Parts: sequence; C-alpha cells; structure tokens
Amino acid sequence: MRDQADKLRQIIESIKIRQSVNQANLINSIRKKTAKVITVTSGKGGVGKTNIAINLAIALSEMGLRVIILDADFGLANIDVLFGIIPHNTLVDVINNKKNILEVLSDGPKNIKFISGGSGVEELVKLEKSQLEKFVDNISMLDKLADVILIDTGAGLSDNVMSFVMAADEVLLVTTPEPTSITDAYALIKMVSNRNKDKIIKVVVNRAENVNEANDILNKLSIVAEKFLNLKLYSLGYVLQDEAVIKAVKLQQPFSLSFPKSHATKLIREISKKIVEEGKNNSNMENTGIKGFVNRLVGFLNS
Ligand SMILES: Nc1ncnc2c1ncn2[C@@H]1O[C@H](COP(=O)(O)OP(=O)(O)O)[C@@H](O)[C@H]1O
Ligand SMILES: [Mg+2]
Repeated sequence: MRDQADKLRQIIESIKIRQSVNQANLINSIRKKTAKVITVTSGKGGVGKTNIAINLAIALSEMGLRVIILDADFGLANIDVLFGIIPHNTLVDVINNKKNILEVLSDGPKNIKFISGGSGVEELVKLEKSQLEKFVDNISMLDKLADVILIDTGAGLSDNVMSFVMAADEVLLVTTPEPTSITDAYALIKMVSNRNKDKIIKVVVNRAENVNEANDILNKLSIVAEKFLNLKLYSLGYVLQDEAVIKAVKLQQPFSLSFPKSHATKLIREISKKIVEEGKNNSNMENTGIKGFVNRLVGFLNS
C-alpha cells in the first residue's frame, strides 16, 4: 500500500514538473521584444470591462506572463477602487515630466502592476513635439517590463476611446446579452471597420445566463460583422452572470482572488488560456509595443 502511495505521489510530481516545463516553453515562445497592447472596451457602459480587465490580468499573470494594466477611464478611478489601492502618482506626472514611468507603477496583486491614467489624454494632446518624444521614450520602458499591457477604457464611441481602440494591437470588446449593449457593441464594431478593416477585435460576452445564450450572441455578432461590415470578429469566450462578481466588487477585491473557485474565475481562466494559445499560434507576428501604440494614439487624438 505504502509503495503504491509513494509511486502515485512520484507520478503526480513528475506530471507537475512536466506541466510547468510545458508552460515555461509556451510563455517563452510568445514572449516578444515588445508588449502586446490590448484595449478593453465596450459600446455601452457598466458591462464589466474593469472586472474583466483586472481578473484577466491576474489569470494571465498566473500563467507566467508579465502584465501591466493602464486605467484609461479618465476621471473615474476604476481599477484603484477594485484593487483597494490609492495610487499617489498618475500618468499625468510622466506626461508633465515630473516623474519617470517606473515611479507611477503601483503594485497590484499577483505581480501585476498598474498605472492610473489621471486626466492623461487632455495633457497628452497639449504636448509639443519634443516633450512628446521625451514621453514616448519614457513610456517605452514598459515594453521591457511587460508581455501584455491591458488598457481599461470608459464606454466606447467617444473620440478619445476610439483613439485607444484604433491604436491598440488588439481590441477586447465586452458586451452583455442586453439588446442595448449588443447594438452599441455593433455600433463600435462598425466605427472600427470604417477606419480599419484589419483591426483584430476579440469579443467577450459577460453576464450571460448560460452557455447557449453566450454562444448565440457571439455567433450572431460574428455573422453580422462579416456580412455587413466585411470584418472578421474573434470569439474569446464568455463570463456568466455570477453572484461572486457582485460580492467581490463590494469587498473591493478582484473576484478571482476572493472567489477562486467561482464560475466566473473558471471562465476568465479559459479566456486567458485562449489569449496565450493565440499568442503562440501567431508567434511570428511582432507587436509594435507601447511605443507604437502611443505614437498612433497621439496621431488619432490630434486628427
Ligand atoms: N459576470 C458578472 N456577474 C454579475 N455581475 C457582474 C458581472 N460582471 C459585472 N457585474 C456587475 O456589473 C458592475 C459593473 O462592472 P464593471 O466592471 O465596473 O463595468 P464597466 O467597467 O464596464 O463599467 C459590477 O460592479 C458588478 O456589480
Ligand atoms: Mg470600468
């Protein structure tokens, strides 16, 4: 009996080691010189962007990726509230050349870092060319510190949010099953397709009642986008309506930390796996990094 138990333990250990080696290989294969910039957005407000951004950041970090979240819902401190952290400096201090980018990085849970945007966009468009170059040089450091930079925006359709959407390497579009949320998501997809048909938009359905409802929305959105806008959408998955999310928000904690066994946590982990797998499949594609992102962003904001 004893022998058998030992043997079993050995087997489990060897599987664990094998898994972590596989994981490390996977992460190495998608690690690039520059970070991938993903803008998290939605057509309608209050659909779960901030919760998805934070918990996705945690899930990606648990898989071994280095993640930074930038709170770009200007004026509304979103991420701070959910982390229960008060950042002392914001991106505005970097834009105004008062701080260096490392000084505005706050430590979040699970090794993730986050930056509060403050009223960053307004400051950014005021910069002279030489000041802007200095800012871009400074923020470029993030490419060395992160594999993924998640940008949490306010609800879409405004010029500012559209600039963040158009400048990103990828867009993560969140919608709920509510008809108004779906039509606003479609309006955002249409605005993107008018500007750039090749933009990568990945859709997450949040707060669905069940798998069928979620898949139905993902399918319908993909079909209409392809048919009427000639734009290919990617379905990234879904998070169901889950009481754990509501409870965690009240505790000012990310749900995946307060309720690691919840349905929402399991589903967010599925989404993070899909992002990592897709990164592996496109490992020959270089990102333009945060530097490319900011240069494009400023171009869009000034146009
Ligand atoms: N999967 C979910 N299940 C239950 N409630 C949710 C879920 N996702 C979001 N919520 C609720 O919606 C609220 C708004 O979420 P939030 O992430 O702040 O949205 P946004 O950033 O899009 O404005 C949360 O405070 C929570 O009460
Ligand atoms: Mg938000």
